[in-house]
Amino acid sequence: MSPFTRRDLLRSSLALSVSRLVGAPANRASVSLASYPLAAPVEALARVAPREHLLFDFGWKFFQGHASDPDRDLGFGKDQGDFAKSGEFEFALGKFDDSKWRPLNLPHDWAVELPFVHDEDLQSHGYKPLGRRHPQTSIGWYRRVFDIPKEDVGRRVVVEFDGAFRSALVFLNGYFMGRNDNGYSPFRFDLTDFLNYGGKNYLVARLDASFGDGWFYEGAGIYRHVWLIKTDVLHLGQWESYIRPAVKGNAATLTMGTVVQNEGRQSESCRVHWQVFDGSGKLVATAETALQSIAPDGAARFETSANLTGPSLWAPETPNLYSAVVSVESGGKIRDAERISFGVRSATFDADKGFFLNGKPLKLKGTCNHQDHAGVGSALPERLQAYRVAVLKEMGSNAVRTSHNMPTPEWVEACNRLGMMMMCETRSMSSSAESQTQLELMVKRYRNSPAIILWSMGNEEGTLQSTPQGERVIAEMVARTHDLDPTRLCTAAVDGSYGSHFSDALDVMGFNYNLDAPDGWHKAHPKKPCVGSETASTVATRGVYENDKLRNTMSAYDTEEGRWQGYETAEKWWTFYAAREWLAGGFAWTGFDYRGEPSPYGWPSINSQFGIVDMCGFPKDDFYYYKAWWGSEPVLHLFPHWNWEQREGEPISVWVHSNLDSVEVFLNGKSQGSQKVLPLMHLEWKVKYEPGVLEARGTKGGKIVLVEKRETTGKPEAIRLTADRTEINADGEDLAVIRVEALDKEGRLIPTADAMISFKVTGEGVLIGVGNGDPNCQESDKESHRSLFNGLAQLIVQSSRTPGTITVVACTEDWSPKPVATQVTITARRVDLRPAVG
Ligand code: GAL
Repeated sequence: MSPFTRRDLLRSSLALSVSRLVGAPANRASVSLASYPLAAPVEALARVAPREHLLFDFGWKFFQGHASDPDRDLGFGKDQGDFAKSGEFEFALGKFDDSKWRPLNLPHDWAVELPFVHDEDLQSHGYKPLGRRHPQTSIGWYRRVFDIPKEDVGRRVVVEFDGAFRSALVFLNGYFMGRNDNGYSPFRFDLTDFLNYGGKNYLVARLDASFGDGWFYEGAGIYRHVWLIKTDVLHLGQWESYIRPAVKGNAATLTMGTVVQNEGRQSESCRVHWQVFDGSGKLVATAETALQSIAPDGAARFETSANLTGPSLWAPETPNLYSAVVSVESGGKIRDAERISFGVRSATFDADKGFFLNGKPLKLKGTCNHQDHAGVGSALPERLQAYRVAVLKEMGSNAVRTSHNMPTPEWVEACNRLGMMMMCETRSMSSSAESQTQLELMVKRYRNSPAIILWSMGNEEGTLQSTPQGERVIAEMVARTHDLDPTRLCTAAVDGSYGSHFSDALDVMGFNYNLDAPDGWHKAHPKKPCVGSETASTVATRGVYENDKLRNTMSAYDTEEGRWQGYETAEKWWTFYAAREWLAGGFAWTGFDYRGEPSPYGWPSINSQFGIVDMCGFPKDDFYYYKAWWGSEPVLHLFPHWNWEQREGEPISVWVHSNLDSVEVFLNGKSQGSQKVLPLMHLEWKVKYEPGVLEARGTKGGKIVLVEKRETTGKPEAIRLTADRTEINADGEDLAVIRVEALDKEGRLIPTADAMISFKVTGEGVLIGVGNGDPNCQESDKESHRSLFNGLAQLIVQSSRTPGTITVVACTEDWSPKPVATQVTITARRVDLRPAVG
C-alpha cells in the first residue's frame, strides 16, 4: 500500500483497463453469439464518473508511403531536420492537404490488399511485398481529424492503440508524441498538453512494416482498435485493477487491488470502492479501502477483499462472468471508475494427474492459432473472433494457444464469453527491458480473464533452451509474471535441449513435438507438470485426397506419407497424449490455416496447410477426428466425396471418423463390411468406385443411430448463400459470414465445384473480404468475386451505422445454362452505438 511515483508506473507503459467502461461484456451464464459485437450499454457509472472511453476507429484516412524515397513519403526524412523542432511536422497540422488520401475505418490491414509477389524472401508474409526490398508497399500513414471541446481543459486525454504493425511513430498537431516498435503490444500517448481545446486536432500515425516480429503473416497497419480516453487528473492506473478469486468449497474470496494516480498539482486524499455484480447484474459484494493521501505526480496502491458465497464458476460449458466496478472517491465525489469483467474458477496443474479446472480433471484439447482470417488479413472485426472460437468449440476443442504473440483483446474476450481456455503467449522470450515490458503488458492486461489458465514465456528459442543465459532469462520472466499474477503458472514451448536447466524455472514443462521426449523427461522430473505446447503440424488440403506436388496439395486423409517434416498425424499425437494421465493435454498446430509459412510447399501456395480448418473456417476431414474424440456428441463422418469420374473400378480409400460402436459401409445398397470402432482410431475400407451413393451406418448399443451419405452429384446448377446470422447490429462493426455453395439440380453440394462467383452487396452494408480456403489461390481478398474451392467460398459483409437491409446477390458466368442470380438478405437493426470519437 505504499505510495510510489509515476516513474514506477511508466516502467510498465500503463494502458487501458482490462474491460472498458463501455462495451464491457454483460455477464451472461449462457453462450450467445447473437450479442457480437457489443452493443455497448452505457454503464450508469459513466454518468457519474468523469471518464470517457471512446472508440477511435471511424473516419481515418490512409496513404501508402515509401520506406526509402522521402519524396514519396510526405517528405519525411528528406533532410536531417525532421525531429529538430518538436512541433513542426506538417502532415499533422491543419494546413496539410489529405484530400487525396483514402478514407477508411479501423481495424485495417494494408498487407492483405497488396498483390502477391513471387520473391522467395517473402514466404513468411505469404508473398505479400513487405520488407526492406519492397519499400513502396511497406509504409502506411493514417490521419484522423477530430474535435476536442473546451470543457476538456483540465482532464487527461490519452490516445491508445491496442496494437499496430509495426514501428509506429505518432504525431499530434505537428508534435511528435512517441514511438512503439513491436507489432503486438498496446501503446498509448498522453495528448493533454498538445490538444487544441475547442477546435480541430490532427492525429497522424506512420507505420513501417519493413521489419517483422515473426515468421508468419503478420499484416501491416493499425489492425486493432484505437481509443481516446479522457479522465480526471485523479484516476485509476491503466490495467492496474485486478481481482483474484480464491475458491474454497462453496465460496470464494476476492482479493481486489488497483493503483490510483494523481496527475494534478495538489495532494489528493481518496479511497477506492468495489461493487461486484453477478451474471444477472445483481450486486453481490462490496468493499472499500482506507483513505490514502497521494502527492502530486504520485500514485498509491490500494487493496481490499470481499467474499462471495455460492459463486457461479466459470468453465467451458458455463462461461459465467462477474463484473466489478472499481471507483475512486475523494471527498464524496467519484473521480474515476471502470468496469472489470472476471470469472471465478480454479485452475491447477498436477505432475501426476494433469490439469484440473474447478477441482475436476480436464484434458486440454487445444489448438495453436495465428491471428489472420480469410478476406481481412489480421484486421478482424470482433464478431469474427467469436466466429472463429465457435468453429473450434464445435470441434470439441476447449483451449487455444495464442501462438506466438500477445493476442488481440477481442480474441481473449471471445474466449472468456464463449468458454475457451487459453495459453497466452508473449512474442519475445527475453528479459531485456523491451521484452519484459511486452510480457508485463500482456499479464496486466489479461490477468482478470478467466479463460487464461497458463502464461507462455515464448516459443522454440533454440539458444536460450540450451545456455546459462537462457536459464537466467526464463527465471527472470517467470518471477516477474508471478509478481504481477500470483494465481497462474508459467510454461514455454520447448523443442529441444530437454535435459538442460532451462526448464527448471518453468512451472509447467511444455513439449513441442518430439513424442520420444516426454516419457524420459517425466521420469527424471516427476514433480513437474507437463503439457504438449505444440503438436501435430499435420498438413492437409480441404477436399483433396492425394499429395500432388504439381498442384501443391496435400491429402486430407492425414496419413503417414502425408507427413510434413516428420511431425505427427492427429491420431498419433492424440493417442499419445490421451494415454498419459500426467500430460495435461496439448495444442495441435494449428486450428485454422494461416497466411504465410506456406507449408509444405512454397510458391504458388500463399498460406500454410496445417489447419484443422481452412482460412475460412471450413472443416477439413481431421476436424471430425477431433470432434469424435474431443467432443461429447455422437459423430459419424464419411469421406472422401463420391465424384470420381473416370475412375470406375478403381479402389478408393473410404475413411470414417466415428465414436460409435461400429460402422457399416454400403455402396449403392451393397454392404462393404462392418467394422468395430477402436478408441481414438479411424476406420478404413477399400471400395471399388462406381457412381451412386456411398453410405455409412453407425451403430450404438445395437441400434443404427447415425447415417451419412456421399453421393455422386450432377453438374452445378445453382448457388446457395447462407448467412451465419440474418440479423446484425447497425453499428458499423458487426458482420455476417456468408457461406457460398455450388449445388446440383437436386440441391446437393458439389464437392469439386470451382466456378468464379460474382457478388453484389447493396443497402446498409459493405463487402469487407472474400475467401475460399484454397492455399494456392492468389485471387484478391478484396474483390467482389471469388472462385469456389471444392464447392465453397466465403464472404464477409459488414453493417454500416444506419439501420436497414443488406442484400447480397451472387451469380456466375461459368456454368451453362447460367444460373439465376441468388440472394440473401440481412437486416441491420438499430442498436445503441458504443461511444466513439465523432
Ligand atoms: C513449429 C513452430 C511453428 C510453426 C511450425 C510449423 O516449430 O513453433 O511456429 O512454424 O513449426 O511446423
